[in-house]
Amino acid sequence: MIPSKKKPKPVMRHLLAMESLDKSAINYLLDLAEHFAATPSHDPSICTALCGKLVTHLFFEPSTRTIHSFEIAAKRLGTIVLQPNMMNLSTVKGESMIDTIHTFEKMGTDCFVIRHPDNFMPQFIAGELLGHTHIINAGDGYNQHPTQALLDLLTIRQHKTTFENLSVCIIGDIAHSRVARSLVEGLQKMGTEDIRLVAPQIFMPEDIKNLQVTATNKLNDGLANADVVVALRIQKERIKNSVLPDVNQYFQSYGLTQERMTHAKPDAIVMHPGPINRDIEIDSQVADGPQSVILQQVKNGVHVRMAVLHTILTQSDPS
Ligand code: NCD
Repeated sequence: MIPSKKKPKPVMRHLLAMESLDKSAINYLLDLAEHFAATPSHDPSICTALCGKLVTHLFFEPSTRTIHSFEIAAKRLGTIVLQPNMMNLSTVKGESMIDTIHTFEKMGTDCFVIRHPDNFMPQFIAGELLGHTHIINAGDGYNQHPTQALLDLLTIRQHKTTFENLSVCIIGDIAHSRVARSLVEGLQKMGTEDIRLVAPQIFMPEDIKNLQVTATNKLNDGLANADVVVALRIQKERIKNSVLPDVNQYFQSYGLTQERMTHAKPDAIVMHPGPINRDIEIDSQVADGPQSVILQQVKNGVHVRMAVLHTILTQSDPS
């Protein structure tokens, strides 16, 4: 039985940012993801759940985990998935993004899953739709990546009893990270107060004061007694005007090693959204070690995306 029978389904036309989800909507989506994880994939309540729906992926940036887990999630629920070859789209002939969107809408798209290098592009597209089409943000610039935050929250919930008393340490290129922004917002909605962001000054966001977190340049201070440790990749593709740090020096100061992990709680979990750059932000011993839940995050990604697609695509249509 789908948990929506017990808890009210959140009203969700789109999923553009964590801002639109409250604690009960987050819990609903995480419970539904757990339900999908526990139900055999050949069960008709799953494999025909969204039969007849068309999901179109528009990824204007590379992706391994996000695009393919969305594809698997949509196909597991019985939808048709259109995955255009981005190099062959008419946008390269000068067609505007909105004309491309309208074209796919008229071909029957029910839901777009969009990743774009520009902040707020999915939000902009959502304002330009012709019909009652849905949009899921799969990452926009350094702004938001809501399904990543949901899968991170699910992974944390599977290991820790409450969100309220957790100490969470997020390390690395925070300034250019949509993952960090979305996760901080998600954790705060779930009641986590002790969030520490650790980065060299060049990777600290300018609006850090608005985020209501603790910021430090010292890794061991951020790690002290942490329950959850999240390492992030340096977002080279988003760094245009400043000089990248030397990777060896960066690893010396901010690389997550076994020795450094001794500052966190002994039962702390280690997370990373992927892709990992080994020996830059994280040592292989930690990435592949017993505290790592990185591959569990990958697995949860499929079920969380099933939950989001299912919730959005089973909303009753407006009259
Ligand atoms: C992240 C992203 O694209 O924002 N990866 C992901 O979605 N799994 C993080 C990154 O690319 O570093």
